[in-house]
Amino acid sequence: MTGFASLPTLLFLRGSWQHSMMSRHILIFYGSYRQNRQGIHLAQWLVDQLQTSGDTAELVDAKAVNLPMLDQRYSDYAEGTAPPAMADLASKISAADAFVFVVGEYNGGIQAGLKNLVDHYLPEFRRRPTAIASYSAGPFSGLRSAQDWRIILGALGMVVTPNSLGLARINQAFDGDGTPIGEDGARLERAFAAFADDLHFWSDAAKMKSGS
Ligand SMILES: Cc1cc2nc3c(=O)[nH]c(=O)nc-3n(C[C@H](O)[C@H](O)[C@H](O)COP(=O)(O)O)c2cc1C
Repeated sequence: MTGFASLPTLLFLRGSWQHSMMSRHILIFYGSYRQNRQGIHLAQWLVDQLQTSGDTAELVDAKAVNLPMLDQRYSDYAEGTAPPAMADLASKISAADAFVFVVGEYNGGIQAGLKNLVDHYLPEFRRRPTAIASYSAGPFSGLRSAQDWRIILGALGMVVTPNSLGLARINQAFDGDGTPIGEDGARLERAFAAFADDLHFWSDAAKMKSGS
């Protein structure tokens, strides 16, 4: 045995160090327009958790962005003519390393407000990883919506991470401060580490490959 690490070990350590030191900017999309909407608690909790894990995380709330029903892609507008909120979001998407889509389920499918928010971007989303966190008031965590979003996000040019979050009975899963409670809240907290690890891995991989 010598006191020197082998070349493969040094390369591995350098890779791990780069991985852990990489800063990530993550947008969290959420798209319910309902009064007394529940998914906002999950979206805000994810922002907090990702920030605690060292990312910069920002909520993109479709209701707050308040785009009209859109009629053409952002890239089809002549420079400076797109609605300002649309242009602002285009810049945010282009500057982000990765995304999380917090999705609820309406009538067995996706929420229209979130779809309208993202449908008219394409090059802005290209080759970036995204994770899905679904929820519902019932026991099935919005699974059908999550499956639909997996296809849609792929069509928008993103790579969807294999590890999703699913939260059942969202109405009972957070206390008044937004802290997860009960069995479903505990399950959410347990699942977060693997969810974030997956997102971080693919975010760093895409960042290294694109040289940004
Ligand atoms: C119009 C409508 C349709 C719904 N359809 C479903 C459904 O298909 N599956 C389901 O699990 N929950 C369904 N729900 C219940 C939602 O899971 C629950 O209301 C949830 O809080 C909606 O998300 P939000 O509060 O963020 O808008 C529906 C709720 C609404 C308002």
